[in-house]
Amino acid sequence: MVSGHRGGGVVEIAFKVGVAQEDVADGLIVPVAQEEGQARWARATAGINDALGGEVARLAADARFVGAKGATLTIPTLGKMAARRVVLTGVGSSPGLTAETIRRAWGAAAVAAREAGAESVVSMLPPSDQRVTQAAALAAAAEGVHLALYQFARHHGAGHEAKLTPKSVESVRFIDSEMEADKAEEALSRGAAMAAGVALARDLANEPASVLTPHVMADYALRVGEESGLEVEVLGPAELEAMGAGAILAVGRGSVNEPRLIRMRYQPADDTRGAGAETTRRVGLVGKCITFDTGGYSIKTYDGMLEMKGDMAGGAAVLGAMSALRAIGCPVAVDATICAAENMISGEAMRPGDVLTALNGVTIEVLSTDAEGRLVLADGLVDAARRGATELIDLATLTGAAVVALGEGTTALFASDDGLADKLLSAAEAAGERTWRMPLIDELNEKINGMVGDVKNTGGRYGGAVTAALFLQRFSEDLPWAHLDIAGSARFEKGSAAGPKGASGVGVRTLLTYLSDGGA
Ligand code: BES
Ligand code: MN
Ligand code: ZN
Repeated sequence: MVSGHRGGGVVEIAFKVGVAQEDVADGLIVPVAQEEGQARWARATAGINDALGGEVARLAADARFVGAKGATLTIPTLGKMAARRVVLTGVGSSPGLTAETIRRAWGAAAVAAREAGAESVVSMLPPSDQRVTQAAALAAAAEGVHLALYQFARHHGAGHEAKLTPKSVESVRFIDSEMEADKAEEALSRGAAMAAGVALARDLANEPASVLTPHVMADYALRVGEESGLEVEVLGPAELEAMGAGAILAVGRGSVNEPRLIRMRYQPADDTRGAGAETTRRVGLVGKCITFDTGGYSIKTYDGMLEMKGDMAGGAAVLGAMSALRAIGCPVAVDATICAAENMISGEAMRPGDVLTALNGVTIEVLSTDAEGRLVLADGLVDAARRGATELIDLATLTGAAVVALGEGTTALFASDDGLADKLLSAAEAAGERTWRMPLIDELNEKINGMVGDVKNTGGRYGGAVTAALFLQRFSEDLPWAHLDIAGSARFEKGSAAGPKGASGVGVRTLLTYLSDGGA
């Protein structure tokens, strides 16, 4: 069974009515806005500056700290204040305030507090305005702290924990005399639920492939189902054979770690459905979960194979999102299909030239065994459609071509439906997950028309992300469908205020933002 672990860096976040400057703590987070290139010292900051004899303004001037987005400045208070240090965090100019600015600012402040060795931290409220409400701002700040302090520490040997970071922040208390405690607590739990979904996705994708096999992934899904009241059903090779899911079976055939098709179902509680909710709507999420991608007989190079334990990030994002649906009170029904398999070589592995029959009877000519993601997704999309999805969204580390097109850090979105595409783009924007829509160019379909079978699994090098999407579209059963190619965004190449180097958990917050307002 799965061990009950979470990475390190778990921080307790609470709200208290009072005055932040009066609370005894190791650190106090103070937002500083920027105006015409200068730091704008608000009333509270001016009070702190006075308490420290004007040193805040002088030190800020020395360090050229002007309240720019993402910048921080840590100042020891040497016994002159209740908090032992002040962490100034830049929020940029007020007209451009966004939830993402707040997320990054509190993430950067949390990292600065940790670097300074602070364990207990208090914080003033983040700024808010007409568009970013106080509750939204507080949720974003909490999310930013959780995401920034995330750590995957499970595999460090005993005694080596100290190497990771000097100390970890244990608690953050937001303190304000005016905000209603109920509203604040609700915002904090929303932020925590979103971040916990991301942390789960990161944990899974950071886990080595020797640990996270398809059946272990299924065990995680079963546990998530138990914890948050979701139906979970796991299909192994025998069931997949009986139903005719020949594509996922072929991908998994070369590995001793047999494939699993994981079905999950979330049904909203009656009181979370809005009045007049469409009870027939079911969002189908489908995740590519290749627990390791060697490429199969179309084997990858040394460099190409390096990070392929993360080729299950789509499935991890789907599971992370499912784990938070109950907590965020998602008003719409959601079905998840996670296509878990390991792409290895053996005497039984598929070969180039093989022809497979997918769940819907479409035959696929395998030109490259390394184009395995689209194969498992073909069966997954059809299965999700058959279970009653009224729209489909798949997430997959699908193509190197998407990374070539957009670079690292951006998700490529393809969609057959403009309404769905627009809603996903605005959800991604609100979540701070950079996403760019790409075209489904119909003419390129001829590149994947099959010779021996109905469809080929690659269309050559040019337009590789597009032909991969066109392949998937053939299995979307004419439903409104969107595809998020996260090959470039599933990993942080370096640490930042968004989180440490490693799995990013991308997709979880875009999905949750999309689903939490019912995809309206
Ligand atoms: N998992 C890879 C895609 C990938 C590449 C993810 C780099 C993350 C970083 C996928 O299975 C793959 O191998 N795709 C091939 C497709 C090709 C053979 C048509 C690719 O992109 O090279
Ligand atoms: Mn591959
Ligand atoms: Zn792959």
